[in-house]
Amino acid sequence: MSTRTAPVLDVDALLDDRSTEIIVCCGSGGVGKTTTSAALALRAAERGRKVVVLTIDPARRLAQSMGIEQLDNTPRPVPSVDAAAGGSLDAMMLDMKRTFDEVVESQASPEKAKQILENPFYVALSSSFAGTQEYMAMEKLGQLHRQALADGSYDLIVVDTPPSRSALDFLDSPERLSSFLDGRLIRLLLAPTRGPVRLVSAGFSVITGALTKVLGGPMLRDVQTFVAALDTLFGSFRQRAEQTFALLQADGTAFVVVAAPEPDALREAAYFVDRLTEDEMPLAGLVVNRVSPSARTSLSAEEAISAADRLRAGDSSSLAAGLLQLHADRVRILERERHLRDRFVASHPQVPTAVIPAMPGDVHDLDGLRVIGARLAQQD
Ligand SMILES: Nc1ncnc2c1ncn2[C@@H]1O[C@H](COP(=O)(O)OP(=O)(O)OP(=O)(O)O)[C@@H](O)[C@H]1O
Ligand SMILES: [Mg+2]
Repeated sequence: MSTRTAPVLDVDALLDDRSTEIIVCCGSGGVGKTTTSAALALRAAERGRKVVVLTIDPARRLAQSMGIEQLDNTPRPVPSVDAAAGGSLDAMMLDMKRTFDEVVESQASPEKAKQILENPFYVALSSSFAGTQEYMAMEKLGQLHRQALADGSYDLIVVDTPPSRSALDFLDSPERLSSFLDGRLIRLLLAPTRGPVRLVSAGFSVITGALTKVLGGPMLRDVQTFVAALDTLFGSFRQRAEQTFALLQADGTAFVVVAAPEPDALREAAYFVDRLTEDEMPLAGLVVNRVSPSARTSLSAEEAISAADRLRAGDSSSLAAGLLQLHADRVRILERERHLRDRFVASHPQVPTAVIPAMPGDVHDLDGLRVIGARLAQQD
Protein backbone atom coordinates (compact mmCIF):
# COMPACT_ATOMS: atom_id res chain seq x y z
CA MET A 1 0.00 0.00 0.00
CA SER A 2 2.85 2.31 0.83
CA THR A 3 3.88 4.33 -2.18
CA ARG A 4 7.22 6.09 -1.94
CA THR A 5 9.48 6.37 1.04
CA ALA A 6 11.23 9.59 1.98
CA PRO A 7 15.01 9.71 2.18
CA VAL A 8 16.16 9.31 5.78
CA LEU A 9 17.29 12.38 7.70
CA ASP A 10 20.73 11.50 9.07
CA VAL A 11 20.66 13.37 12.35
CA ASP A 12 24.16 12.46 13.52
CA ALA A 13 25.66 13.54 10.21
CA LEU A 14 23.88 16.88 10.62
CA LEU A 15 25.06 17.34 14.22
CA ASP A 16 28.63 16.19 13.54
CA ASP A 17 29.05 18.41 10.50
CA ARG A 18 31.09 21.34 11.81
CA SER A 19 29.70 23.57 9.11
CA THR A 20 26.26 23.26 10.74
CA GLU A 21 26.22 26.36 12.95
CA ILE A 22 22.54 27.00 13.52
CA ILE A 23 19.64 24.56 13.74
CA VAL A 24 16.14 26.04 13.87
CA CYS A 25 13.26 23.79 14.94
CA CYS A 26 9.96 24.99 13.49
CA GLY A 27 6.48 23.57 13.39
CA SER A 28 2.92 24.26 14.45
CA GLY A 29 1.79 24.38 18.09
CA GLY A 30 2.37 21.46 20.41
CA VAL A 31 4.12 19.14 17.95
CA GLY A 32 7.35 18.79 19.92
CA LYS A 33 9.58 21.70 18.86
CA THR A 34 10.93 22.35 22.35
CA THR A 35 11.53 18.65 23.00
CA THR A 36 13.23 18.14 19.63
CA SER A 37 15.46 21.19 19.95
CA ALA A 38 16.56 20.21 23.47
CA ALA A 39 17.17 16.61 22.38
CA LEU A 40 19.20 17.67 19.33
CA ALA A 41 21.23 20.13 21.43
CA LEU A 42 22.00 17.53 24.10
CA ARG A 43 22.99 14.91 21.55
CA ALA A 44 25.23 17.36 19.70
CA ALA A 45 26.91 18.38 22.97
CA GLU A 46 27.51 14.78 24.00
CA ARG A 47 29.02 14.13 20.57
CA GLY A 48 31.52 16.92 21.10
CA ARG A 49 29.94 20.17 19.91
CA LYS A 50 29.92 23.37 21.97
CA VAL A 51 26.22 24.01 21.98
CA VAL A 52 23.78 26.61 23.21
CA VAL A 53 20.06 25.94 22.99
CA LEU A 54 17.54 28.78 23.02
CA THR A 55 14.23 27.43 24.30
CA ILE A 56 10.87 29.17 24.35
CA ASP A 57 8.45 28.39 27.15
CA PRO A 58 9.70 24.92 28.02
CA ALA A 59 7.46 22.89 30.30
CA ARG A 60 8.36 23.56 33.93
CA ARG A 61 9.82 20.13 34.65
CA LEU A 62 11.98 20.21 31.56
CA ALA A 63 13.25 23.69 32.47
CA GLN A 64 14.03 22.40 35.96
CA SER A 65 16.06 19.47 34.74
CA MET A 66 17.97 21.69 32.32
CA GLY A 67 18.68 24.23 35.06
CA ILE A 68 16.98 27.09 33.22
CA GLU A 69 14.12 28.02 35.49
CA GLN A 70 15.54 31.48 36.04
CA LEU A 71 14.45 33.92 33.42
CA ASP A 72 17.55 36.07 33.14
CA ASN A 73 18.06 35.95 29.40
CA THR A 74 21.59 34.54 29.50
CA PRO A 75 22.68 30.98 28.73
CA ARG A 76 23.60 28.75 31.68
CA PRO A 77 25.47 25.42 31.69
CA VAL A 78 23.12 22.44 31.78
CA PRO A 79 24.05 20.13 34.67
CA SER A 80 24.90 16.43 34.13
CA VAL A 81 25.83 16.66 30.47
CA ASP A 82 28.42 14.05 29.48
CA ALA A 83 31.42 16.11 28.39
CA ALA A 84 33.70 13.13 27.60
CA ALA A 85 33.72 13.94 23.87
CA GLY A 86 34.83 17.50 24.58
CA GLY A 87 31.49 19.19 24.06
CA SER A 88 29.34 21.37 26.30
CA LEU A 89 25.74 22.48 26.58
CA ASP A 90 24.39 25.82 27.72
CA ALA A 91 20.69 26.55 27.69
CA MET A 92 18.46 29.54 28.10
CA MET A 93 14.82 30.36 28.08
CA LEU A 94 13.84 33.40 26.03
CA ASP A 95 12.72 36.44 27.98
CA MET A 96 10.84 38.30 25.33
CA LYS A 97 10.42 41.61 27.12
CA ARG A 98 14.02 41.72 28.23
CA THR A 99 15.24 41.02 24.73
CA PHE A 100 13.09 43.85 23.39
CA ASP A 101 14.49 46.18 26.09
CA GLU A 102 18.03 45.20 25.15
CA VAL A 103 17.41 46.15 21.53
CA VAL A 104 16.06 49.54 22.54
CA GLU A 105 18.96 50.11 24.93
CA SER A 106 21.53 49.20 22.33
CA GLN A 107 20.00 51.42 19.65
CA ALA A 108 18.87 54.60 21.39
CA SER A 109 20.67 57.15 23.52
CA PRO A 110 20.31 56.43 27.26
CA GLU A 111 17.80 59.26 27.62
CA LYS A 112 15.68 58.19 24.72
CA ALA A 113 15.88 54.53 25.74
CA LYS A 114 14.61 55.46 29.20
CA GLN A 115 11.76 57.43 27.68
CA ILE A 116 10.73 54.47 25.55
CA LEU A 117 11.17 51.77 28.19
CA GLU A 118 9.08 53.62 30.75
CA ASN A 119 6.25 54.30 28.37
CA PRO A 120 3.11 52.26 29.21
CA PHE A 121 2.40 51.74 25.55
CA TYR A 122 5.84 50.20 25.12
CA VAL A 123 5.24 47.90 28.05
CA ALA A 124 2.01 46.71 26.47
CA LEU A 125 3.48 46.41 23.00
CA SER A 126 6.63 44.60 24.00
CA SER A 127 4.78 41.87 25.78
CA SER A 128 1.62 41.47 23.79
CA PHE A 129 2.08 42.34 20.14
CA ALA A 130 1.38 39.21 18.12
CA GLY A 131 4.69 38.24 16.60
CA THR A 132 6.90 39.91 19.20
CA GLN A 133 7.96 36.58 20.61
CA GLU A 134 8.89 35.29 17.18
CA TYR A 135 10.78 38.45 16.38
CA MET A 136 12.60 38.41 19.71
CA ALA A 137 13.61 34.78 19.23
CA MET A 138 15.29 35.89 16.01
CA GLU A 139 16.86 38.85 17.74
CA LYS A 140 18.29 36.60 20.46
CA LEU A 141 19.60 34.22 17.83
CA GLY A 142 21.41 37.13 16.21
CA GLN A 143 22.92 38.12 19.56
CA LEU A 144 24.06 34.59 20.38
CA HIS A 145 25.57 34.26 16.93
CA ARG A 146 27.54 37.49 17.29
CA GLN A 147 28.75 36.33 20.70
CA ALA A 148 29.75 32.93 19.33
CA LEU A 149 31.73 34.59 16.54
CA ALA A 150 33.39 37.04 18.90
CA ASP A 151 34.54 34.71 21.67
CA GLY A 152 34.19 31.21 20.24
CA SER A 153 31.95 30.19 23.14
CA TYR A 154 29.69 28.09 20.91
CA ASP A 155 30.01 26.30 17.62
CA LEU A 156 26.35 25.30 17.35
CA ILE A 157 23.20 27.25 18.22
CA VAL A 158 19.94 25.32 18.41
CA VAL A 159 16.81 27.45 18.31
CA ASP A 160 13.34 26.51 19.42
CA THR A 161 10.46 28.60 18.04
CA PRO A 162 7.38 30.00 19.82
CA PRO A 163 4.10 28.12 20.13
CA SER A 164 2.21 29.73 17.28
CA ARG A 165 -0.60 28.20 15.33
CA SER A 166 1.36 28.51 12.15
CA ALA A 167 5.04 27.77 11.76
CA LEU A 168 5.19 30.54 9.19
CA ASP A 169 4.70 33.18 11.89
CA PHE A 170 8.35 32.83 12.75
CA LEU A 171 9.52 33.80 9.29
CA ASP A 172 6.89 36.50 8.91
CA SER A 173 7.57 38.22 12.21
CA PRO A 174 10.26 40.75 11.19
CA GLU A 175 8.09 41.93 8.33
CA ARG A 176 5.05 42.14 10.57
CA LEU A 177 6.82 43.97 13.34
CA SER A 178 8.34 46.54 11.03
CA SER A 179 5.16 47.09 9.06
CA PHE A 180 3.38 47.53 12.37
CA LEU A 181 5.98 49.96 13.60
CA ASP A 182 5.83 52.15 10.56
CA GLY A 183 2.34 51.21 9.58
CA ARG A 184 -0.78 53.24 9.04
CA LEU A 185 -1.79 53.66 12.65
CA ILE A 186 1.55 55.11 13.50
CA ARG A 187 1.59 57.41 10.48
CA LEU A 188 -1.80 58.68 11.54
CA LEU A 189 -0.67 59.27 15.08
CA LEU A 190 2.34 61.15 13.86
CA ALA A 191 0.42 63.15 11.26
CA PRO A 192 -0.44 66.24 13.36
CA THR A 193 3.21 66.93 14.00
CA ARG A 194 3.85 66.78 10.30
CA GLY A 195 1.85 69.62 8.91
CA PRO A 196 -1.79 70.34 8.17
CA VAL A 197 -3.04 67.56 5.95
CA ARG A 198 -6.76 67.98 6.37
CA LEU A 199 -7.88 64.55 5.36
CA VAL A 200 -5.38 62.80 7.57
CA SER A 201 -6.12 65.13 10.45
CA ALA A 202 -9.80 64.42 10.15
CA GLY A 203 -9.13 60.70 10.23
CA PHE A 204 -6.76 61.25 13.06
CA SER A 205 -9.20 63.13 15.23
CA VAL A 206 -11.75 60.36 14.77
CA ILE A 207 -9.17 57.84 15.84
CA THR A 208 -7.82 59.90 18.71
CA GLY A 209 -11.37 60.50 19.82
CA ALA A 210 -12.03 56.79 19.93
CA LEU A 211 -8.71 56.00 21.51
CA THR A 212 -9.10 58.71 24.13
CA LYS A 213 -12.39 57.17 25.12
CA VAL A 214 -10.82 53.77 25.47
CA LEU A 215 -7.43 54.66 26.85
CA GLY A 216 -7.88 58.02 28.46
CA GLY A 217 -5.98 61.22 27.67
CA PRO A 218 -2.64 60.56 29.40
CA MET A 219 -2.35 57.17 27.78
CA LEU A 220 -2.80 58.66 24.36
CA ARG A 221 -0.12 61.25 24.92
CA ASP A 222 2.08 58.33 25.85
CA VAL A 223 1.36 56.60 22.58
CA GLN A 224 2.42 59.71 20.72
CA THR A 225 5.59 60.20 22.73
CA PHE A 226 6.36 56.56 22.32
CA VAL A 227 5.83 56.54 18.62
CA ALA A 228 7.84 59.70 18.13
CA ALA A 229 10.73 58.21 20.09
CA LEU A 230 10.46 54.86 18.39
CA ASP A 231 10.45 56.56 15.02
CA THR A 232 14.20 56.97 15.26
CA LEU A 233 14.57 53.24 15.86
CA PHE A 234 12.61 52.11 12.83
CA GLY A 235 15.67 51.99 10.65
CA SER A 236 17.59 49.87 13.09
CA PHE A 237 14.74 47.43 13.67
CA ARG A 238 14.45 46.86 9.97
CA GLN A 239 18.19 46.55 9.51
CA ARG A 240 18.49 44.00 12.32
CA ALA A 241 15.63 41.96 10.94
CA GLU A 242 17.35 41.93 7.57
CA GLN A 243 20.62 40.78 9.12
CA THR A 244 18.96 37.95 10.99
CA PHE A 245 17.08 36.95 7.87
CA ALA A 246 20.39 36.74 6.03
CA LEU A 247 21.72 34.56 8.85
CA LEU A 248 18.79 32.21 8.39
CA GLN A 249 19.60 31.95 4.69
CA ALA A 250 23.28 31.21 5.28
CA ASP A 251 24.79 27.82 4.46
CA GLY A 252 25.53 27.07 8.11
CA THR A 253 21.84 27.17 8.99
CA ALA A 254 19.64 24.09 8.95
CA PHE A 255 15.89 24.16 9.44
CA VAL A 256 14.30 21.12 11.01
CA VAL A 257 10.55 21.10 10.51
CA VAL A 258 8.72 19.23 13.25
CA ALA A 259 5.23 17.79 12.77
CA ALA A 260 2.90 15.34 14.43
CA PRO A 261 1.35 12.61 12.27
CA GLU A 262 -1.85 14.67 12.08
CA PRO A 263 -3.46 16.30 9.04
CA ASP A 264 -3.12 19.89 10.31
CA ALA A 265 0.46 19.57 11.50
CA LEU A 266 1.59 17.88 8.28
CA ARG A 267 -0.21 20.47 6.19
CA GLU A 268 1.57 23.23 8.10
CA ALA A 269 4.85 21.39 7.63
CA ALA A 270 4.24 21.24 3.88
CA TYR A 271 3.53 24.99 3.74
CA PHE A 272 6.64 25.64 5.73
CA VAL A 273 8.85 23.51 3.50
CA ASP A 274 7.53 25.38 0.45
CA ARG A 275 8.16 28.71 2.12
CA LEU A 276 11.74 27.78 2.99
CA THR A 277 12.35 26.93 -0.63
CA GLU A 278 10.83 30.22 -1.71
CA ASP A 279 12.95 32.21 0.76
CA GLU A 280 16.05 30.18 -0.11
CA MET A 281 16.46 28.94 3.43
CA PRO A 282 18.27 25.64 3.96
CA LEU A 283 16.02 22.76 4.99
CA ALA A 284 17.67 19.82 6.76
CA GLY A 285 14.53 17.75 6.92
CA LEU A 286 11.28 16.79 8.56
CA VAL A 287 10.86 15.19 11.97
CA VAL A 288 7.58 13.39 12.47
CA ASN A 289 7.13 13.22 16.23
CA ARG A 290 4.90 11.01 18.36
CA VAL A 291 4.37 8.36 15.75
CA SER A 292 2.40 5.39 17.06
CA PRO A 293 4.60 2.36 17.73
CA SER A 294 4.06 -0.33 15.13
CA ALA A 295 1.81 -3.29 15.91
CA ARG A 296 4.05 -6.32 16.15
CA THR A 297 1.83 -8.59 14.09
CA SER A 298 0.54 -8.69 10.55
CA LEU A 299 -3.05 -9.27 11.66
CA SER A 300 -5.08 -6.68 9.73
CA ALA A 301 -7.85 -4.54 11.20
CA GLU A 302 -10.46 -6.37 9.11
CA GLU A 303 -9.25 -9.81 10.22
CA ALA A 304 -9.23 -8.71 13.84
CA ILE A 305 -12.77 -7.31 13.61
CA SER A 306 -14.23 -10.36 11.95
CA ALA A 307 -12.52 -12.62 14.49
CA ALA A 308 -13.91 -10.44 17.28
CA ASP A 309 -17.41 -10.70 15.76
CA ARG A 310 -17.16 -14.49 15.64
CA LEU A 311 -16.06 -14.63 19.27
CA ARG A 312 -18.82 -12.28 20.40
CA ALA A 313 -21.42 -14.43 18.63
CA GLY A 314 -20.62 -17.18 21.14
CA ASP A 315 -19.85 -15.02 24.17
CA SER A 316 -20.87 -11.36 24.24
CA SER A 317 -18.41 -10.55 27.05
CA SER A 318 -15.40 -12.19 25.40
CA LEU A 319 -12.14 -10.64 26.61
CA ALA A 320 -10.35 -11.85 23.52
CA ALA A 321 -12.91 -10.05 21.36
CA GLY A 322 -12.19 -6.85 23.27
CA LEU A 323 -8.47 -7.24 22.68
CA LEU A 324 -9.00 -7.91 18.99
CA GLN A 325 -11.09 -4.77 18.78
CA LEU A 326 -8.31 -2.81 20.47
CA HIS A 327 -5.84 -4.23 17.98
CA ALA A 328 -8.09 -3.23 15.09
CA ASP A 329 -8.33 0.34 16.41
CA ARG A 330 -4.58 0.58 16.73
CA VAL A 331 -3.97 -0.78 13.25
CA ARG A 332 -6.40 1.80 11.88
CA ILE A 333 -4.52 4.63 13.61
CA LEU A 334 -1.28 3.31 12.15
CA GLU A 335 -2.83 3.11 8.70
CA ARG A 336 -4.09 6.65 8.99
CA GLU A 337 -0.68 7.94 10.02
CA ARG A 338 0.93 5.96 7.20
CA HIS A 339 -1.53 7.43 4.74
CA LEU A 340 -0.89 11.01 5.93
CA ARG A 341 2.84 10.53 5.68
CA ASP A 342 2.55 8.96 2.23
CA ARG A 343 0.64 12.02 1.13
CA PHE A 344 3.39 14.30 2.39
CA VAL A 345 6.05 12.22 0.65
CA ALA A 346 4.06 12.22 -2.59
CA SER A 347 4.01 16.05 -2.66
CA HIS A 348 7.51 16.52 -1.19
CA PRO A 349 9.51 13.46 -2.22
CA GLN A 350 12.95 15.02 -1.61
CA VAL A 351 12.55 15.96 2.04
CA PRO A 352 14.73 13.81 4.33
CA THR A 353 12.61 12.54 7.19
CA ALA A 354 13.15 11.08 10.65
CA VAL A 355 10.52 9.65 12.93
CA ILE A 356 10.26 9.75 16.73
CA PRO A 357 7.90 7.28 18.33
CA ALA A 358 5.40 8.40 20.95
CA MET A 359 6.94 7.71 24.34
CA PRO A 360 4.85 6.22 27.12
CA GLY A 361 5.14 9.41 29.22
CA ASP A 362 6.13 13.06 28.87
CA VAL A 363 9.74 13.93 28.13
CA HIS A 364 10.92 16.06 31.02
CA ASP A 365 14.51 15.18 31.91
CA LEU A 366 17.91 14.65 30.32
CA ASP A 367 17.47 10.88 30.15
CA GLY A 368 14.20 11.37 28.30
CA LEU A 369 15.93 13.78 25.90
CA ARG A 370 18.76 11.26 25.35
CA VAL A 371 16.24 8.60 24.41
CA ILE A 372 14.59 10.98 21.93
CA GLY A 373 18.00 11.90 20.49
CA ALA A 374 18.98 8.25 20.13
CA ARG A 375 15.68 7.38 18.43
CA LEU A 376 16.12 10.30 16.07
CA ALA A 377 19.55 9.07 15.10
CA GLN A 378 18.50 5.43 14.64
CA GLN A 379 15.91 5.29 11.95
CA ASP A 380 15.16 1.77 10.77
N1 LIG B 1 7.87 11.67 21.33
C1 LIG B 1 7.19 12.07 22.42
N2 LIG B 1 6.63 11.15 23.22
C2 LIG B 1 5.92 11.53 24.32
N3 LIG B 1 5.72 12.79 24.70
C3 LIG B 1 6.26 13.76 23.93
C4 LIG B 1 7.02 13.46 22.76
N4 LIG B 1 7.41 14.62 22.20
C5 LIG B 1 6.93 15.60 22.99
N5 LIG B 1 6.24 15.09 24.02
C6 LIG B 1 5.54 15.85 25.08
O1 LIG B 1 4.55 16.62 24.45
C7 LIG B 1 4.42 17.89 25.07
C8 LIG B 1 4.59 18.98 24.03
O2 LIG B 1 5.93 18.94 23.53
P1 LIG B 1 6.75 20.27 23.27
O3 LIG B 1 6.64 21.18 24.43
O4 LIG B 1 8.10 19.86 22.84
O5 LIG B 1 5.95 20.84 22.04
P2 LIG B 1 6.10 22.27 21.36
O6 LIG B 1 5.97 22.07 19.89
O7 LIG B 1 7.33 22.92 21.83
O8 LIG B 1 4.82 22.98 21.92
P3 LIG B 1 4.50 24.56 21.87
O9 LIG B 1 4.04 24.83 20.47
O10 LIG B 1 3.43 24.75 22.89
O11 LIG B 1 5.78 25.27 22.20
C9 LIG B 1 5.46 17.92 26.18
O12 LIG B 1 4.83 17.62 27.38
C10 LIG B 1 6.43 16.82 25.80
O13 LIG B 1 7.02 16.24 26.94
MG1 LIG C 1 7.58 24.79 22.81
